[in-house]
Amino acid sequence: MKILFATSEIAPWVKTGGLGDVAGALPVALRAAGHDVRVLVPAYPPLLQAFPDAPEIARPHWLGGLLPTPGLREAMSADGLPLLLLDYPPYFARLGNPYLGPEGRDWLDNHQRFGLLSRVAAWIGAEASTLAWQPDVIHCHDWQTGLAPAYLNYLPGRRAKSLFTVHNLAFQGLFDHASLFELGLPDTAWGMHGVEYFGYLSFLKAGLQHADAITTVSPSYASEIQTDAEGMGMAGLLRHRSEQLTGILNGIDTALWNPATDPHLVKTYTARHLEGKAANKAALQSQFGLEQRTDLPLLAVVSRLTEQKGLDLLLDVAPQILKLPAQLVVLGSGGHELEHGWTALARKHRSRCAVSIGFDEAQAHRIEAGADIFLMPSRFEPCGLNQMYSLRYGTPPVVRATGGLADTVIDAADRKNGNGFVFGPATAAALLQAVQRAIATWRDPILWRRLQKHGMARDSSWEGAARQYAALYASL
Ligand code: ADP
Ligand code: GLC
Repeated sequence: MKILFATSEIAPWVKTGGLGDVAGALPVALRAAGHDVRVLVPAYPPLLQAFPDAPEIARPHWLGGLLPTPGLREAMSADGLPLLLLDYPPYFARLGNPYLGPEGRDWLDNHQRFGLLSRVAAWIGAEASTLAWQPDVIHCHDWQTGLAPAYLNYLPGRRAKSLFTVHNLAFQGLFDHASLFELGLPDTAWGMHGVEYFGYLSFLKAGLQHADAITTVSPSYASEIQTDAEGMGMAGLLRHRSEQLTGILNGIDTALWNPATDPHLVKTYTARHLEGKAANKAALQSQFGLEQRTDLPLLAVVSRLTEQKGLDLLLDVAPQILKLPAQLVVLGSGGHELEHGWTALARKHRSRCAVSIGFDEAQAHRIEAGADIFLMPSRFEPCGLNQMYSLRYGTPPVVRATGGLADTVIDAADRKNGNGFVFGPATAAALLQAVQRAIATWRDPILWRRLQKHGMARDSSWEGAARQYAALYASL
């Protein structure tokens, strides 16, 4: 099958979270299974730097509304993944975060930037395309490409089918009514059965409404978002489309995240020979200026610092956790308030707690390897990749029972299969209790070894998910 991925980020070039990881790895797994997958992504500076000679292969024009005429460049990644770079420098030649300006606020023209991305995805899937390559399915991801299924719906003639994957329902791409005209959508698209959401144009709703099929990134999240409590205003529509909605659990890039070969580690290790993990812990403690102690558990977080991730709950009980006693390392970036809160905590407890504000891929690998216990107290979590990285790195996670966390982490109470610690209520008290349980277990080397082995043996590769996506494409 011929599949076009349309995405606003792709690892390793541009990544703000799990979507980038998925867009970098799933197409490669699908290609390995014999499918012709290509990826449409904006030509941000890191991509143009990586592929300076990418030739222009088309100039989609007459896109409607006030949409400009961009270029499409073709490149091939080292993994053999064909990329279509959407080149329009006024929109995409900006450094840093793809969605936010230097002040940390959304770019004011995001509707035009991602409207163009969506429109060009639809162009590639429709009759007007001048490309020799014609996809059978356009696979869209999150609000940034949510308008593509809507455009396909309103275009005449033969069109590709569309699949819309929800990685996070919290980001909805809401813009005012005037953008409808700017983006060249017909007046008939305005309304409850179109792209309107309570007086706004919603890119997310457009995707949910018009895609031929919808997936989300774990089975649990697929059912949670159909409830009013967790549907973020989209539950009604999702229930209406429940026949077309499924949850497919993400995999992880098992070549990139492999403790046996990871070049970022001071010492590699395997489930059979876990000894190397100790050297990584010592290195992490020294790098973060923590006391060199083998007798204290080292807890860690790698995360966006947002409400979603429950790091405010963790901050509330962190002083108590440090007194258990334990050490804590946090790598994260995001909301200013949480950044301040965490930095202040670290300043108060220098020997026990260290916080690094920023986005650092190599550091994330070293933390996964050096920590004893990984913390992910998310309020909601569509899938979550970090808990899977920690399972693979022999760093049992403490997670809240939600979304993909509930689908990947099995509580230690299950002696035969347990690989981590799961708690229910999104409260600081429940989190603290789970951390206490984890630390008590860590103090028992035999029980701990068993947990680590279960986690490390879990198959988190993309192959299973790729098979499920391929079956879904075929059904369309
Ligand atoms: P989300 O996409 O909601 O942020 P995921 O767990 O799916 O959560 O994916 C997050 C990805 O981003 C992981 O690959 C994780 O390692 C990475 N990540 C998050 N924050 C940082 C950071 N501060 N530094 C390095 N990597 C980070
Ligand atoms: C989103 C979700 C995260 C998921 C990722 C990749 O960013 O917040 O849970 O793992 O997308 O699907």
